[in-house]
Amino acid sequence: MRRHCANPDGPLLAAAALYRAAGRFAYHFARGKLRGDPIYRELLRGGLLQDRPSILDLGCGQGLIAACLLTAADCERRGLWPGAWAAPPRPTSLRGIELRPRAVVRARRALGERFEVQLGDICAADFGRPDAVLILDVMQYLEPDSQRSVLRRAREVLPEHGVILMRVGDAHAGWRFHCTRFADQCVLAMRGQWSFRQHCRSVADWRALLADCGFASEIRPMSAGTPFANVLIVATPRPALNRLPPSPRPAPAPAPHPAAG
Ligand SMILES: C[S@@+](CC[C@H](N)C(=O)[O-])C[C@H]1O[C@@H](n2cnc3c(N)ncnc32)[C@H](O)[C@@H]1O
Repeated sequence: MRRHCANPDGPLLAAAALYRAAGRFAYHFARGKLRGDPIYRELLRGGLLQDRPSILDLGCGQGLIAACLLTAADCERRGLWPGAWAAPPRPTSLRGIELRPRAVVRARRALGERFEVQLGDICAADFGRPDAVLILDVMQYLEPDSQRSVLRRAREVLPEHGVILMRVGDAHAGWRFHCTRFADQCVLAMRGQWSFRQHCRSVADWRALLADCGFASEIRPMSAGTPFANVLIVATPRPALNRLPPSPRPAPAPAPHPAAG
């Protein structure tokens, strides 16, 4: 029988607790980010990753979403899963690719072998055969050509029932977008990456790019409780044109009625 609790922070705190093994910074960062940023709660609550056995997190940082996914089923067993949420996801394969060695070390210390995190560049690394690809707050760090190529490669490896969950800032969202960009720039500065240029787009542009790369998409606001202009884009593969059944031949013109003329 499923046991439930009403505290929506329960599963997030359980995920954060894994980072005690990775040091004080990793733990406090995880705790603050998991509770303060709505994306993690929404991904768990909304069932978007249910029935996705193999999940690939591109630009995974220290693996926060993997930590949530790894602890979800256990939270349900312990009565920490809110009753109003969708059933917890139960992935069987969790992989991440991350550029920063320190974040990779933290992910490995906290999550061990249950999360296969690779130190590498998502513009070059092999994606394998995932059912779901996560790209959360990463796309703006890639050059426009690389943004396109990452999405094209994701389209090639995803099955027809696959999904991309991509969070981006909406460059047409006025002052909220400036807050988003400023916060990102501060994080880059703290990491000593002052000169890193961001390549942002409006949500309409992101969706046009996704369409061009073979995806249908819908959007969900993802900044609740923050001053930011973040949006979650849920993108699913459109059938490749060459896999569509041939278009039906135009129906032959009806024979003239014998009584006509
Ligand atoms: C804002 S953080 C988001 C981390 C994670 N996606 C999350 O939501 O918790 C962006 C991450 O993308 C990583 N990143 C940026 N460009 C990358 C690239 N080309 N390949 C791999 N990781 C990249 C950064 O190192 C950073 O950890």
